[in-house]
Amino acid sequence: MMYDSNPTLNFRKTIDEDNQGNVIFYETEDSDKKKFYIESYGCQMNFSDSEIVASVLSEIDYIPTRNIEVADLILINTCSIREKAEDTVRKRLTAFNQVKKKKPETLIGVLGCMAERLKSKFLEEEKLVDLVIGPDAYRDIPSLVAGAEDGDKGINVFLSREETYADISPLRLDSNGVTAFISIMRGCDNMCSFCVVPFTRGRERSRDPYSILAEAEDLYNRGYREVTLLGQNVDSYKWENPSDENSEKVNFANLLEKVALIHPDLRVRFSTSHPKDITDDVLFVMANHENICNYIHLPVQSGNSRILELMNRTYDREWYINKVNRIYEIIPDCAISSDMIAGFCTETEEEHQDTLSVMEHAQYSMSYMFFYSERPGTLAAKKYEDDIPLETKKRRLNEIIRLQNHISLNHNKKDIGKTFQVLIEGNSKKSEDEWKGRNSQNKMIIFKKTGNFGVGSYVNVKVESATSATLMGHIVENQTMPA
Ligand code: SAH
Ligand code: SF4
Ligand code: F3S
Repeated sequence: MMYDSNPTLNFRKTIDEDNQGNVIFYETEDSDKKKFYIESYGCQMNFSDSEIVASVLSEIDYIPTRNIEVADLILINTCSIREKAEDTVRKRLTAFNQVKKKKPETLIGVLGCMAERLKSKFLEEEKLVDLVIGPDAYRDIPSLVAGAEDGDKGINVFLSREETYADISPLRLDSNGVTAFISIMRGCDNMCSFCVVPFTRGRERSRDPYSILAEAEDLYNRGYREVTLLGQNVDSYKWENPSDENSEKVNFANLLEKVALIHPDLRVRFSTSHPKDITDDVLFVMANHENICNYIHLPVQSGNSRILELMNRTYDREWYINKVNRIYEIIPDCAISSDMIAGFCTETEEEHQDTLSVMEHAQYSMSYMFFYSERPGTLAAKKYEDDIPLETKKRRLNEIIRLQNHISLNHNKKDIGKTFQVLIEGNSKKSEDEWKGRNSQNKMIIFKKTGNFGVGSYVNVKVESATSATLMGHIVENQTMPA
């Protein structure tokens, strides 16, 4: 399949974020065409998918707007991972319905995982919704929108075994022009017992490497300096030409290396790694290429082997600890981050303590932390009782958060006095006189604008101080810059 670079639309870009940094808006100066407004929730895959949706909509001459009041089509790309995520979407739909009451011709569409989970129930429950479109049906948007414009409700929640949108060039609407996501696979075959993703995203499939490389090269040529390869489980990336048995077989280590070889100035990141699948080959490729960032998101979920088994994570505490040790052995300055779930079914206090102790051992630079939220239809919902009282779940979660803050602060304090290569991403949130950017370990560093550098430049920054979330430093100019 061919990969075409998208014609750039003429839009003035602004980014607004809610308090979770979750919402994206776009603005355009072109006023004649029909306009769509899109909000995205959930994981990076969903944000990446919204860029596919924007691209598909641009083909039928819809342009993006950040002003919901002028939108002809309001879209919400939804997440089902926890009950709270779905509650947020319901609240937003109530707000959209207010807009529709004032302007009844406005179309409202629900995309993504909640659309897939609830299917036609959505149209029954939320009467003002016109379109329900699952994650594998975005190519069908033009015909569904055309139908809705004629007054027909539209639904397509078909899950595909092949769809990777390989040939669709995402419209990078909320972009800083420097960092971008590239989706390399879709779906998940893992069946962790707590998780709704296999049901909302379907079977795992890998995108062909040629279109991935073409997309990364195109981004580099357009001035981007960092790409993040995305998948629910990137380490199980696997591709071979279906029509040629003798063709090259590409695994994740191979793909990572190919992307890294595009240009030494193009940084490469990836997410998410599953502890059972990340191989030594991947770690060696990371160690061998300066531009592959030394950062691995390696969610543990729980530090207790019995709970891990109930979670169907297919590794135990010892396996996980060995993986962490191996990472630090091969890439000593690698930062590791994690996800933790507090209060999974039947978890005892001692088992919760095992999660705290695995965190101490792994010395995570940061973590995403949740309490268990039962999801209808999952293995855990069918097999186990959600028996830990909410209060206990919240208390355990707080203990996890408190410990992580402590570990993050120590992790960051160790960086004081060190100099890191930082890619400038933009102004800091607080001041136009400061840049923000990340080092290889994915830590955000804030520093004063000195010298002649701009967004997309690499600079060497010496760290002066640290909080649990950020490093502060200054540019040191007498260091050698990357080639
Ligand atoms: N594919 C990734 C995770 C995707 S979901 C992986 O395997 O690690 C992101 C995170 O949400 C998970 O790592 C998990 O910590 C959390 N999560 C998933 N289902 C959950 C549930 N039912 N309740 C609470 N947290 C959940
Ligand atoms: Fe969910 Fe597990 Fe797949 Fe991650 S690996 S998306 S947690 S089923
Ligand atoms: Fe949520 Fe779907 Fe991602 S459930 S976390 S948006 S894959």
